[in-house]
Amino acid sequence: MKTDIRNRKDIELLVDTFYDKIKTDAVIGFLFTEIAQVNWETHLPRMYDFWENILFYTGNYNGSPMQVHKDLHSKCPMNPEHFQHWVIVFTTTVDELFEGEKAIEIKERALNIANVIMYKTLA
Ligand code: HEM
Repeated sequence: MKTDIRNRKDIELLVDTFYDKIKTDAVIGFLFTEIAQVNWETHLPRMYDFWENILFYTGNYNGSPMQVHKDLHSKCPMNPEHFQHWVIVFTTTVDELFEGEKAIEIKERALNIANVIMYKTLA
């Protein structure tokens, strides 16, 4: 039986599973692996902090996601399909692993933030 997202350990599982898919994703994987050449050892803990702060108000994330994505867009133009696909993979991963109020909340927040990042990045 699936549980809700309860703590940082659950967020780590979600984030790790999501980026395992993204690394080999046919639509947006190359943006991470080839264009940005992401250092996963630093990126993954930053994403744990980001989502933990959103769901549990830990105050432990202090990055600038807008700038990161603008920089990426200037290296390789992104489009709405890239962001829509990101949301589908993220939402599918949440649904595979969890169910409950926090699971619903993280999907809503991801969609909203994706839209904000997309409009600011592609503007
Ligand atoms: C097409 C969609 C997206 C692509 C290709 C993308 C790609 C990236 C890349 C390459 C990085 C930098 C990783 C690094 O070098 O450390 C990054 C960072 C990040 N992304 Fe995305 N991203 C996308 C959508 C999103 C969405 C929708 C969210 C939130 C809902 C998000 C949240 C973040 C955050 C929080 C960071 C860390 C920023 C920092 O503090 O340095 N991204 N993304």
